This record gives sequence, C-alpha cells and structure tokens, in this order.
Amino acid sequence: MTVRRIAMLTGGGDAPGLNAVIRAVTKTAIQEYGWEVIGIRNGFDGLIPPVSVEPLTLDSVQGILPRGGTILGTANRGSPLARRVTSGGRVELVDQTPEAIATLKDLGVDALIVIGGDGTLNIANALAQRGVPVVAVPKTIDNDLPETDQTFGFDTAVLTATEAIDKLHSTAESHHRVMVLEVMGREAGWIAIHAGIAGGADVILIPEIPFSVSKVVEKIAERDRLGRHFSIVVAAEGAHPIGGRRFYLREGDELSLGRLGGVGEWLANTLAITSGHEARCTVLGHLQRGGTPTPFDRLLATRYGAAAVRAVAAGRFNHMVALKGNVICEVPLERCVGRVRTVPPDGELVQTARGLGISLGV
Ligand code: F6P
Repeated sequence: MTVRRIAMLTGGGDAPGLNAVIRAVTKTAIQEYGWEVIGIRNGFDGLIPPVSVEPLTLDSVQGILPRGGTILGTANRGSPLARRVTSGGRVELVDQTPEAIATLKDLGVDALIVIGGDGTLNIANALAQRGVPVVAVPKTIDNDLPETDQTFGFDTAVLTATEAIDKLHSTAESHHRVMVLEVMGREAGWIAIHAGIAGGADVILIPEIPFSVSKVVEKIAERDRLGRHFSIVVAAEGAHPIGGRRFYLREGDELSLGRLGGVGEWLANTLAITSGHEARCTVLGHLQRGGTPTPFDRLLATRYGAAAVRAVAAGRFNHMVALKGNVICEVPLERCVGRVRTVPPDGELVQTARGLGISLGV
C-alpha cells in the first residue's frame, strides 16, 4: 500500500511528552517519507462532525519539544464507541465509529497514529478491527499499560512527585509532623513507589498492597524511638485500607471512570488522632501532568513517534510501539488493551523498599 497522508490524534489525560511525539511523527513523516500529516483536534472528538482537523507542517511543530500538554488538544470523557446522545428528550448510547471512519476516508487518510492510554487504545483497537490501519503510541503518567516497560510522561511525573517529597521533608522535620503526599496513578502504584523510594519516604501505600493504619502508626512510633519525630507518607490515590474501598471524589458510571482521590486527607486525619503527631495532607494532583518533559521522556516520546512512522511505512498496522529493556519494538494492539499493568506486590521494587525499612503499611 502506498502511503501519502497520515493522521494523528492525542487522547485521554495529557502527559508530558505528547508534543515530542507529535513533533517526531511530523518531522519523520515529512522529511524521511514525504507524506502529508493531518492533526485531529481533541482526540476522537475531532473525527465526529463537525470535524476538527489541521495540517501539521514542519513550521507547526517548531519549538514544541519542551512544551507540556498537546498542541492538538485531547479529551478524556466520552468515546465514539458509546456516545451519550440526547434525542427527543431521551438519552441514548450511540456507536459513532462509522462517522469517525467516514471522516478518515473523506480526508484521504492512509493510516492513523493514535497516542494515548488504556481508554484511547481500546478505541483504537475497535477502529483497527473495523479496518482502519492504526499504529498506537503508549502514553500515561500512570505507567500502567501492559506490553511496555515504560510509557512516556511517567518519568516527568515521578520527578515532580520526588521534588514534592524533598520539599515536604524540611517542613515535616521543623514541625515534627507527619506529612502525607497523595499522588496519582489510578489503580497502579508506580508513581508512588518510584517517587517514594527516590524521595526517601518512610511509608509508601500502593493500591496493590492494601494497608493497615496500625502498621503505619507503628512505623511512625519506631521513628520516634530513634529520635526522628517526623515522617513522610506517600499514598497512591488508589491505595485503600485492608477490607476497605478505594476513595473516590466522584464515582464512575458505565461510561466513565470515577475520579479517585481522598485517601491522603482521610489518612492525615486518622493519623492525627492515632499517631500523637500533627498531620497534614498535600494532594499533588494535576501538577504531575504538567511542565516540561524530562530528557528521558523527550527521548522516549521521540523514539516512539519515529518508530510509529516506520511501522506505518513498513505496513505493520494494528500494533503499539513499546519499550522492552532499552529496545523499541512493536506489539499487536489487541494484546495491549483491557488489562492494567500494576506493581508486583512481591517484585523487586517492593523488596527494595522493604529492605530500606520503608513501611508498605502491612
Ligand atoms: O490517567 C492519568 C490520570 O492523571 C490519573 O492518574 C488520574 O486518576 C486521572 O488521570 C485524573 O483525570 P482527570 O484529568 O479527569 O481529573
């Protein structure tokens, strides 16, 4: 198949490095292969009439490498597979993939590069099964996609969280307080365990290992006995007590995931009563998604973007580019959807934390 024109979109929550992928795809497609590149605005929404697209040129990607966010815009609510549409006062769920596919045909697109996390890859896989030639690029600060060792955006989020832990140390020590830092990650504890170890936290709570408050209190008391009258607790937003539920700011429904959050505040209030220390909570929130990507994320995003274009050129569709060890490879898309990659509870990272005396709350 001769490729003349490709399209690209970014879907789901933004992550540092999206612009680096957009730049790498655009530059490689134009300079190496002489193709045209079309950017689709606001994720899959841009494919549904009224269509929203823009040509991507060497000029349009100039200077975007260090910029956070995505110049194409994104959307992490709603899916063309089941869009909520109101007609005649009734709400119906409509499959809008036929419209999306028709738009790609009208635009004369030979292949679609989709940059996203689990929700976006799920939609990409559905389009692939309906005949659209797709190549996917794994993005998320949560690092929870299967079949790749790392997603881009994660390294920058870990840096932000580690810097926050560093800053919390001095104020915790000055006031002899327990400081709880709640970080993102959904159902995976990757950000919490990476930043917790890198920042020298005393307690790390991850969704994969439900915790006991009394074990956290024990750790704080042990530090007291050693003359260390402050503690740093890093809690992943999906962490929860043994036998308890995850904490939600808003519950999900059949169409959208809930918004996790609240474990940090709950824990700080509980520890203030049970540990004999004042306790405070910091929720790092969307700071973890912003800012300039680290050099590691810029490089990984650039390698992913260039590899996605090479996959299109070779006609290897319906794959996701991935990092295994330090090698970029391709994995069939259907193997990358419907699963979350979580922290192995007995894995090397957890063992490392335990060996350092960090409490996992059990
Ligand atoms: O998946 C990325 C992520 O930042 C999660 O860590 C977090 O739970 C969620 O997105 C927040 O989503 P929103 O931007 O809709 O608040």
